[in-house]
Amino acid sequence: MKIIMLGAPGAGKGTQAKRIAEKYGIPHISTGDIFRANIKSGTELGRKAKAYMDQGLLVPDEIVVDIVVDRLKQSDCANGYILDGFPRTIPQAEALDNALKIIEEKVDFAINVEVPDSYIVERMSGRRACLNCGATYHVVNIPTKVDGICDVCGSEIVLRDDDKPETVLKRLKVYHEQTQPLIDYYSKQNLLIDVDGTKDMSEVFQAIIMVLEQ
Ligand code: AP5
Ligand code: ZN
Repeated sequence: MKIIMLGAPGAGKGTQAKRIAEKYGIPHISTGDIFRANIKSGTELGRKAKAYMDQGLLVPDEIVVDIVVDRLKQSDCANGYILDGFPRTIPQAEALDNALKIIEEKVDFAINVEVPDSYIVERMSGRRACLNCGATYHVVNIPTKVDGICDVCGSEIVLRDDDKPETVLKRLKVYHEQTQPLIDYYSKQNLLIDVDGTKDMSEVFQAIIMVLEQ
C-alpha cells in the first residue's frame, strides 16, 4: 500500500501516519523528520534546510525530490510506505509520479486531513516534540507521563523552532498557495480520501482505516 498524507501544517498528518505505518508494517517517511534529523546531526543538508524551515518556507523541490526518490529505493519500501509531508508542490507530485512510472507503480491513496486554519495555531503552540526520537505530544491532548520528558526515549521535549505563532501563520500561507492545489491533483486521479481532522485522534484513525479497508 502506497499512501500520501496531505493536510495543513499541524493537521495531524504525522500523528496518523505513525499509526497507519504501525498497523500495516510499512515505513513512515516524513520529509520534515528527515530534515530535522539532519539539522540535529549538523549535516550540509540540515544547514540548507534550516534556513528555509525557520522562515516557514518550503525547501526547494530539487533538494526534496532527490532525497525521497533515493529513500523509496530502499528495500523496506518494497511492500509500500506512507509519505508524510511529501509531495508538497505540484512539481514534487509530478516528480513522484514519474519516478513511480519508471518502475510501473503508482500511489494508491492520498489522505487529506482537513482542519480549518482556526484550529491550527492552538494545536501547534501546544505541540511538543522530541528532537531525539521524533515522538510528538500535545500539552493538553497528548501529555507526557513526566512533565517535559519524552515517554519513548527519556529526552527533553521542546517547542519546535517553526511552531512559533508568527512562523505557523507563514507556513499556513505557504500551504494554501503551494500545497493545497495537490487536493485537486489527486482528486482528478480518483485517489483522494477526505477525513475530518478536527475529531478526536482515534476517531480520525478509525475513519482512515475504514476507507483503506473498504
Ligand atoms: P513538516 O515536519 O512536514 O511539518 P508540517 O507539514 O508543517 O506538519 P507538522 O509536522 O507541523 O504537522 P502534522 O500535520 O504532522 O501534525 P501533528 O501530527 O504533529 O515540515 C516542516 C518543514 O520542513 C516545512 O515547513 C518545510 O520547510 C520543510 N519541508 C518538509 N517537507 C517538505 C517538502 N516536501 N518540500 C519542501 N519543504 C519541506 O499534529 C500537530 C499537533 O496536534 C500535535 O501536538 C498533535 O499531538 C496534535 N493533534 C494531532 N491530531 C489531533 C487531533 N485529532 N485532535 C487534537 N490534537 C491533535
Ligand atoms: Zn524521544
